[in-house]
Amino acid sequence: MPGSGGSTAGRAPLDLFEHKFGSTSTRLVLAFEGTRQVRQNEFPRALPSLAYATQVRSGPELRELNARQFVAELGALTAIYALAMDAPPAQLHSRRATMERHAGYPAFRALIAVPDVAAPPIGFAYGFHGAVGQWWHDVVLDTITTERGDEDAQYWLGDSFEIAEVHVHPAHQGKGIGRAMVHALVAGRLERAALLSTPEGHTRARRLYRSLGFTDLVPGFSFPGSGPAYAIMGAALPLRDEAPSPAARPASPSRW
Ligand SMILES: CC(C)(COP(=O)(O)OP(=O)(O)OC[C@H]1O[C@@H](n2cnc3c(N)ncnc32)[C@H](O)[C@@H]1OP(=O)(O)O)[C@@H](O)C(=O)NCCC(=O)NCCS
Repeated sequence: MPGSGGSTAGRAPLDLFEHKFGSTSTRLVLAFEGTRQVRQNEFPRALPSLAYATQVRSGPELRELNARQFVAELGALTAIYALAMDAPPAQLHSRRATMERHAGYPAFRALIAVPDVAAPPIGFAYGFHGAVGQWWHDVVLDTITTERGDEDAQYWLGDSFEIAEVHVHPAHQGKGIGRAMVHALVAGRLERAALLSTPEGHTRARRLYRSLGFTDLVPGFSFPGSGPAYAIMGAALPLRDEAPSPAARPASPSRW
C-alpha cells in the first residue's frame, strides 16, 4: 500500500476486523511490520507500523499515512474536519496548524479512509504518544490528578496513546468507517491506555467510543479557553472488540 514502505508478502495478518452492517459487509485485514516486543521502559518509538490495510470485500479502504504524507493531505483533511464538526471557517486555520504540530509528536500514527484508489479521503483519524509538554496532555493530567487522584492520573497518562481526531465526511457516516478507523489506529499500539476528549452529549461519537470500551474519566470538562463541555474518555489497550448490537439500534437511521 502507498506509504507502507515495502511488500507484505509472506507476513501473517495479526488482526482481522469484520464489520457487518445490514446487508453490507466490510472486512479489513491489517498487518503490522515489526513485533510487539520492546525492552521494558523503552519509549515505544519502535511501534509496529501498519504495513497495509486492504479491503477484501465491499467498503472503503484504510491507509496509513506517515507524518509527511499527513501534512501533505492537510487541505483535504481540514475540509473533512470542517464538514464533520460543522466548524466555522475562522477556526480552520488554527485547527490545521494544530494538526501539523501534532504530526511531529512522538509515535504519531494517522489513517485515512478512501472509497477507492484515486478518490480523495472520506475520513481520517490520528493520534500519538502522550508526553509532558503537550498542551492537551498537560491539561488532562492536571485535571485527572485533581478529580481522581495521582494514582489514576499515572495509570491513564503515564503511558498513553492520545487519539486527537476521528472524523468521517457526513455523507459517509454511520457505515462503520469511524469504528474501523479507531480499531486500526490503536491496533498493535504498545501504550497501556488510549485517551481522547469528545463533545459532551448523546452523540454518535460517544456511543461509538463507549461501544469500543471507552469510559468517562472526567465528564463535562471545559478546556481552558474553550466554552463547550467535553468528556475526557479512556480505555485500556488493547480495546475490547464489541460488535454493535442491532437490537440496541433505533429502527430509523434518522433517529441515531
Ligand atoms: C463520530 C464519527 C467519527 C463516527 O464515525 P462513523 O463512521 O459515522 O461511525 P460508525 O459508522 O463506525 O459508527 C456509528 C454508528 O454505526 C454503528 N455501526 C457501525 N458499524 C456498524 C456495523 N458494522 N453494524 C452495526 N452497526 C454499526 C455504530 O454502533 C454507531 O451506531 P450509533 O450511531 O447508533 O451509535 C463520525 O460520525 C463523525 O465524523 N462525526 C462528526 C465528527 C465527530 O463527532 N468526530 C468525533 C469527535 S471526538
